[in-house]
Amino acid sequence: MISTHASASAKIILFGEHAVVYGHPAVAIPIQDVRTSAAISIDAAASDPVIEAKDLQIETSIGAVSHPESIAHIIKAIELVNDKIIELPKSGWRLTIWSKIPIGRGLGSSAATSIAIIRALTKAVMKVITPKDLIKHSFELEKIHHGTPSGIDNTVISLEKPILFRKDREPSPINPGSMYFIVGDTGISKKTGDIVAHVAEARNKNPEQFDRWFTQIGHIARDGALALKDGDAKRLGKLMDENQNLLQRIGVSSPELERLINAAKMRGALGAKLCGAGRGGCMVAVARDSATAENIAADLLKAGAVRSFSTRLK
Ligand code: PMV
Repeated sequence: MISTHASASAKIILFGEHAVVYGHPAVAIPIQDVRTSAAISIDAAASDPVIEAKDLQIETSIGAVSHPESIAHIIKAIELVNDKIIELPKSGWRLTIWSKIPIGRGLGSSAATSIAIIRALTKAVMKVITPKDLIKHSFELEKIHHGTPSGIDNTVISLEKPILFRKDREPSPINPGSMYFIVGDTGISKKTGDIVAHVAEARNKNPEQFDRWFTQIGHIARDGALALKDGDAKRLGKLMDENQNLLQRIGVSSPELERLINAAKMRGALGAKLCGAGRGGCMVAVARDSATAENIAADLLKAGAVRSFSTRLK
């Protein structure tokens, strides 16, 4: 084993959340400048491998009698590497993990944690892992955390490329035109699995209506993938607004999200929508240029966002 370091990006779902769970297309992009990092270091004193979760201020060993719930996903990721990819040394190393991706806000923190750990551990034992295998293994971990995930989060983060995604199919990478996105965080944490379950309940009561909405969202996602490829921010924004309209009807928006979406549009966003499961978490807006993007990010804070940032795709 060697000392090494790896990381994984955050992500935004630009189109198609929720509908993607029912087999419709969706579009997601990585946010390269917001990442989760994992370092492996050789630690001769560690008779049992040590886990250090810096942001949570937790240090423990893998063999400890019990682990805090907040690091259960880290333990699972290490176990998966050891059981399914390559047997790891039983002592003499430490995994340190830290992240700039907020937890439970729809930016892919759980998938990024899993992927950073798989990347770091395989690199440390010099085992090459293909993108396809990375997607497969990180999906196993997503299933443990979220129940019935579509697989979009772990796929876009494994590839770190914009994708047109459909459940159980090969993702299609999109080579995007240059665009500016702004993310605003409501500060409200949510559990993706709970919201997906609420949507499923509502759909059971009104299947034809929900399936019509999901189909429309799927069409928007396909058009959105083309607008992204063409670098057509105006068209992309219009499609984001249409997608948001349908997300409202499905019942996953919230007053806090609406406030941020409106603030972004007042400041010149070409379109805006919630991103991820909704009912909290983050919203995303698209802007014509970097100055507008900066202004929108500043206004989102005034409108109540606990954090905001702008990012350039490509
Ligand atoms: O984990 P989040 O908040 O980015 O939501 C994932 C998107 C959903 O479509 C709601 C669920 C899924 O598995 O695709």
